[in-house]
Amino acid sequence: MIFDWNQAKRRVGTANDSDVPLEDRYRLLIDAVQDYAIFMLDPTGRVASWNGGARKIKGYEAGEIIGRHFSVFYTPEDIASNKPAHELAVATAQGRVEDQGWRVRRDGSRFWADVAITAVYDTTGVLLGFAKVTRDMSERMRLAELEHASELAVRMQSAREEEQRRIARELHDDLGQQLTALKMGIAALENQLSDGNGGSPALAATRGLQQQIDDTIGSLRRIAANLRPPMLDDLGLAPALEWLADDFAGRFGVKTYVDIEVDHKIFTVPASTAIFRIVQEALTNVAKHAQASEVRITLSASTDRCTVRVEDNGLGDATGGERKTNSLGLLGMRERARQLGGFVLIDSAPRAGFRITVHLPLDAIQAGEPDTPGER
Ligand SMILES: Nc1ncnc2c1ncn2[C@@H]1O[C@H](COP(=O)(O)OP(=O)(O)O)[C@@H](O)[C@H]1O
Ligand SMILES: [Mg+2]
Repeated sequence: MIFDWNQAKRRVGTANDSDVPLEDRYRLLIDAVQDYAIFMLDPTGRVASWNGGARKIKGYEAGEIIGRHFSVFYTPEDIASNKPAHELAVATAQGRVEDQGWRVRRDGSRFWADVAITAVYDTTGVLLGFAKVTRDMSERMRLAELEHASELAVRMQSAREEEQRRIARELHDDLGQQLTALKMGIAALENQLSDGNGGSPALAATRGLQQQIDDTIGSLRRIAANLRPPMLDDLGLAPALEWLADDFAGRFGVKTYVDIEVDHKIFTVPASTAIFRIVQEALTNVAKHAQASEVRITLSASTDRCTVRVEDNGLGDATGGERKTNSLGLLGMRERARQLGGFVLIDSAPRAGFRITVHLPLDAIQAGEPDTPGER
């Protein structure tokens, strides 16, 4: 029952369509289908025909599989529970059975299959066998899983951002106010002490305490702002990047330049957040790995894309681009860019600095134009 492809081609090639019998044309069509395994089983479940899709999906050549029982496509667990026979019994009783489950290829590997078995009868009602159509759903499953994982990543990232915003507010408002109150209390104490008693040790101690509290408030503000800079929500991306650069320069003694050649107010909040986090991580890497004396942050835009660049003049990538398994910083940047439909490029060579360039499509990160009257 194997269809002779070459013979059919010869016939198709030599004359007009009517020369090819209808039955052969159907077989040609079925054999040409690559995405579905389409084949016949005899009434006892032995493979009776085979098509190109079946060869591709299951890995058997027609000559190896025709005549063998179709239970070879099932897993040992399914065979133990008599599933193949059960499916034929249901198809016989109801005309058709559908199933999704694991099937086994010739090489023993498994794939997730979508299967339909239909009983085929002749005109007098005698069972001729079964038509079996199988589709390999593995790729689809993998895509669905990837989609799910990426949706999950987006949700986790925004939950994390929200949590950081909350902690930053509490640190700033609650703890910050308590420290300010403490400072005022000490200032009052200082006034009392200084009345008539110029240089007492207690007075010197209160001054010291004031200084400590100022430093603590400074640290607290910095920690809160790094968690979620309030200017990102209140003023937008550019002031937040300026603050980040100032803070970085102050803490690590690296000259930090910021060039913003784009109206930062056009960006959506998630886009501003993503760009801020990318630059923040890039600067963390400069502090950690670069030993640079200068770093430049550039934000520019063309007609259809926005480009964010962070480049330093430090040691460059000593690893030759090799990825460490526990390095999540660059991975996180790529993921953020990917979520916005963009991508990240890295150029670096040993001793030649490190440059991260992030390209983002403008239409994915730009807030919509406000509605104008008369337009939708
Ligand atoms: N500015 C930089 N200068 C030199 N090397 C860098 C710089 N940024 C990143 N790298 C290199 O890239 C690697 C991966 O960075 P990242 O994914 O952030 O992981 P981590 O910082 O945890 O090592 C770093 O370990 C480092 O070798
Ligand atoms: Mg890092």
